[in-house]
Amino acid sequence: MRGILITFEGGDGSGKSTQIRLLAERLTAVGLPVTTTREPGGTAAGEAIRDLLQTAKAGRNLTPEAELLLFAASRAQLVREVMEPALASGAVVLADRFADSTTVYQGTARKLEAENVAFVNRLALGTLRPDLTLLLDLEPEEACRRRTARSGPDRMESLPLSFHEAVRDGYLRLAAQEPERFRILDATLSVEALHEAVWNLLQE
Ligand code: TMP
Repeated sequence: MRGILITFEGGDGSGKSTQIRLLAERLTAVGLPVTTTREPGGTAAGEAIRDLLQTAKAGRNLTPEAELLLFAASRAQLVREVMEPALASGAVVLADRFADSTTVYQGTARKLEAENVAFVNRLALGTLRPDLTLLLDLEPEEACRRRTARSGPDRMESLPLSFHEAVRDGYLRLAAQEPERFRILDATLSVEALHEAVWNLLQE
């Protein structure tokens, strides 16, 4: 039986990675095969692209167009090398970001033409679509406080608050457009309470 793809979306610092880890542990404990992915990254090529996008000196002057294509390249590789085979083997795939991140960050926030972003997303995804998308919603001010409490911001994270506000609005708009696929979760909840909310949602 084919597996199921659950994507986690939200602004930087909304707690996606922690929730994915907890959910993966719990699903594994009940005996389900789980594969987790993160974007950009998740393959050898993808991790090199991640380094270029987030830390390497060579990536400092990337244009929004170049960023769009790099995120898409990382995803195109991940979909075919990791996600499709995992789903074919019946795994629950938990994705830390997916195409909605590109729609919102490169489209809404970076203001690249929506049509171009949609085309690039379609190319990267092939026929793959998420079965469920969990949006961890958090006010940008709170997310910013959390991020600075962590190890220190990377290049994408040190963008102005207005950028993160555009990201949040973009996500909420997407969720309203596709209510069947999206579930919005309150990311101000404690780690444990949010995990229970995620778990209850999946029980449904
Ligand atoms: P993260 O690993 O903390 O989620 O960081 C990934 C960063 O890259 C985050 O700032 C969001 C950004 N991003 C995009 O701009 N477009 C994309 O398509 C993806 C996957 C991430």
